[in-house]
Amino acid sequence: MKKILVTGGAGFIGSSLVDELIKDKDNVITIIDDLSMGKRENIPNSEKISFYEKSVCDYKFMEELLINEKFEYIYHLAAVASVADSIERPSYTHKVNLESTLNILETIRENDLPITKLLFSSSAAVYGNDPALPKKETSLIKPMTPYAIDKFSSEQFVLRYGELYDIQTVAVRFFNVYGPKQNPKSPYSGVLSILKDSIDKDRSFKVFGDGEQYRDFIFINDVVGAIIHLAVSPKCVHEVYNVGTGKKTSLNAVIKNFQKILNSNISIEYVESRTGDIKYSYAEIDKLLSTGFKPVYSISQGLKVYLK
Ligand code: UD1
Repeated sequence: MKKILVTGGAGFIGSSLVDELIKDKDNVITIIDDLSMGKRENIPNSEKISFYEKSVCDYKFMEELLINEKFEYIYHLAAVASVADSIERPSYTHKVNLESTLNILETIRENDLPITKLLFSSSAAVYGNDPALPKKETSLIKPMTPYAIDKFSSEQFVLRYGELYDIQTVAVRFFNVYGPKQNPKSPYSGVLSILKDSIDKDRSFKVFGDGEQYRDFIFINDVVGAIIHLAVSPKCVHEVYNVGTGKKTSLNAVIKNFQKILNSNISIEYVESRTGDIKYSYAEIDKLLSTGFKPVYSISQGLKVYLK
């Protein structure tokens, strides 16, 4: 039996990871989620899943859980994922996005917990809006928001702390992840979830700017595949990996793809660019490829599954 902890396991990426992990009959999964963004209905029904509606900032609870359960794998995905929220509440989001990570590391070290791998989810936001492209793991780091600052600090804590105290850790920088279960509620949700929601609700979709901005959109199945691969590969340790496709797609091209797949016209309104948005972003993924993992979904393949 493999004991696995997924923090943020009721959220978009966390619950999609759990959907995959549960397919292996040897896995027993514990989920921590305070349901601030995640949803209970995202969690599959299985006697091999234990769910605790708790915050990762409940240190007493977290310590007891880690000490009692002695997890083999920890996927630390819980976070305040909204950049806008981090700008509104930097102190609160710092606790969730950074201090919770340090607490997990300290608990592992102080109690000599025998974990096989701790994976931390960071973000392409750490690169900020420096124009050099594609973004490599060695590119300039220029976090522009409390969210990005905390993601970078947490990621570095996880990696360097792992080296210092001999704890097996790895970190990933997600590019623009999309797929079922992504919550479209906030105006700062992933653009593809907002686009899909507008279509479902028969509303027009607002493009900020001319639509020629491009991103590295990666389908959730590839993200889940990448993080499991990095967690179980003993050689992938104390390193950070971009998790993207290495391909760029403009918003206009995505909209065309949606129209083609759905065989319908989408009502689009072009409005002013959003302040603070970056125009272009995409990843270089040579480092990820060198580990033996290759994303398999092109944007049109991913969208076909997403829109099915
Ligand atoms: C993403 C992250 C953000 C992070 C940034 C840095 C998400 C949801 N956001 O932002 O937290 O700081 O990377 O790498 O992962 N757009 C529209 N209409 C909409 C919504 C968005 O035209 O209704 C446009 C945006 O202006 C932007 C593009 O779509 O140009 C993508 O937006 P978004 O999904 O928010 O992602 P990022 O801007 O890449």
